[in-house]
Amino acid sequence: MDHKSKLLQRIKDHEAVVGVVGLGYVGLPFAVEKAKVGYQVIGIEQNPVRAQKVNRGENYIGDVKDEELRQLVVQGKIRAETDFERVPEMDVIVVCVPTPLTKNLTPDLQYVERVTREIAKRLRPGQLISLESTTYPGTTEEVMLPILESSSLKADQDFFLVHSPERVDPGNKRYTTRNTCKVVGGVGPNSLEVGVAFYSQTVEKVIPVSSAKVAELVKIFENTFRAVNIALVNELALLCDRRD
Ligand SMILES: NC(=O)c1ccc[n+]([C@@H]2O[C@H](COP(=O)([O-])OP(=O)(O)OC[C@H]3O[C@@H](n4cnc5c(N)ncnc54)[C@H](O)[C@@H]3O)[C@@H](O)[C@H]2O)c1
Repeated sequence: MDHKSKLLQRIKDHEAVVGVVGLGYVGLPFAVEKAKVGYQVIGIEQNPVRAQKVNRGENYIGDVKDEELRQLVVQGKIRAETDFERVPEMDVIVVCVPTPLTKNLTPDLQYVERVTREIAKRLRPGQLISLESTTYPGTTEEVMLPILESSSLKADQDFFLVHSPERVDPGNKRYTTRNTCKVVGGVGPNSLEVGVAFYSQTVEKVIPVSSAKVAELVKIFENTFRAVNIALVNELALLCDRRD
């Protein structure tokens, strides 16, 4: 069986080992979601306090239910590490690290770059890497792809690479990770196929788009749309206050 067919089979049978890099607001709920449907989840979290908490089943994120995390840890379904040594065991690696702005308001990609270099050192054929962090259009193809291919493995043939932005609205009772549409863009058709298969296991509607860049733009557009709406409502609230 080729790399893609083997990975697709492991994803569909829920036998894939899922790595989650960065166990914060995005990464920890994601890890729990995947472990709940049977995947073996290995988290990589550089903050040792957070990693220890996860391994004791102690939740520190609002959207995660304490008891759910505890049970998954007791069952051996989730384990957190502080280094990248177990990357070769992972079939899927989901990157959820911070993407802040520098003081000059340019994108600060140091976390994404550092994590990608660590993955590249240990990359093996048949792995899917997905970037979920919010970032500018081009990051997956122009920043991650060359670092990963420096391993001498070829994207879309030996390994698969997608961008799938995290779109969850923390605290929202109506829209959860399961019923919020998930956008996926790959660096090629094989990556897209594997990415869509992976996310379809836990999300009701997955929307494939034509490239990783398009998926990145979707998220930037959504954040801009939200910011404009918040500003509009704030202005209206000020106006209403004055008319009171
Ligand atoms: N919080 C949200 O509601 C939300 C929603 C959508 C998208 N996002 C995006 O998702 C990304 C992650 O956001 P977040 O809110 O989860 O951030 P967070 O700060 O809560 O979590 C990030 C985690 O990554 C860890 N980390 C940093 N560098 C690491 C490394 N080299 N190796 C391993 N772990 C490392 C940090 O210790 C931290 O625990 C950002 O790009 C953010 O913009 C966030």
